[in-house]
Amino acid sequence: MKKIKILNKSFSKPMSCLTAYSPSIANILDGKIDLILVGDSLGSTLYGMKNTQGVTMEMMINHGAAVNKVIKRSLKVLDMPYKTYDNKMDAYKNAKKLLIHCKPDLLKIEISKKKLVILKHLVDKKINVISHIGVTPQSYNNFNKIKIFGKTVKERKNLLKLAQESEKLGAKAVLLECITADTAKLITENISIPTIGIGASKFCDGQVLVFDDLINLSTGDKKLRFVKNYFNFNKIAGNAVRKYNREVKLKKFPSIKFTFN
Ligand code: KIV
Repeated sequence: MKKIKILNKSFSKPMSCLTAYSPSIANILDGKIDLILVGDSLGSTLYGMKNTQGVTMEMMINHGAAVNKVIKRSLKVLDMPYKTYDNKMDAYKNAKKLLIHCKPDLLKIEISKKKLVILKHLVDKKINVISHIGVTPQSYNNFNKIKIFGKTVKERKNLLKLAQESEKLGAKAVLLECITADTAKLITENISIPTIGIGASKFCDGQVLVFDDLINLSTGDKKLRFVKNYFNFNKIAGNAVRKYNREVKLKKFPSIKFTFN
C-alpha cells in the first residue's frame, strides 16, 4: 500500500483514512486502510478536553511516536497542534520535531487565508503537508458553535480559492471538514490534488473518520450526522464488564483454568 507514493489523484478507488492514537488501534488499521491519522482530536477523544486547543507538542509526539512503531504499510499523517505553526519559524521548528520523533509521511495543518504563508514555508522546506479547510476545529473554543460551510456563494468561493491556493503552494491533499456536498464536488473537480472529506459528502477523493466514532467508543455526546457507527463497542464492552463483575462477585473468576498451581 505504501506504493501509493505521496497521494495523487490517480487511485481507481477513493482513499480511506481513520484516526489512531495508540499502537493497538494502529495495528488494527495498518494495511487495511490507506492513511492513518494521529489527529489532534485525541484532545477531546482521549483526554476529555472540550476542544483541541489544549493539545500540546508533547502529546502529539508521544502518541505519534508510539503509533509510528507499528505502522508498516499505511501512510502516516500527523496533526500539528494548536498554536505550534503561528509563524514560519515556529512552524518549521515544530514540524521538524514531529518529523524526527514520529516519522510521519505527511503533516496536517488547519488553513485559513492567513496561514497559507505557513503552508508555503513548510513545503519550501520539503515537508509533505495536507491542508485542512472548512471547519477547522482548532479555531473553536466551543464545538457546539461549529456550523456547516459552503452554503453561501461567498463561502463556496472562498473555500474553492483556499483549496486552489493550497494546491498552488504545494499541498499534497486538501482535507474538507463539514462542507456541503455541492461545494465539496466543486472543489474536488477543480483541483488536481486529492480531497479527503469528513462530513463533506461522497464527492471527495477519500474519506476520513475518527476511529472511536466508527466503533462507537465515544463518551456518549451527541452523535454528529456524518458519523456512521460500524460496530457498537460501547454495548459489547459494557456487557463484558457486567459479566466480569458478576463472575468476580460469585467467585466464578478466576477459576482453576486461570490459576497458578
Ligand atoms: O484530528 C482529527 O481527528 C481530524 C479529523 C477530524 C479529520 O483532523
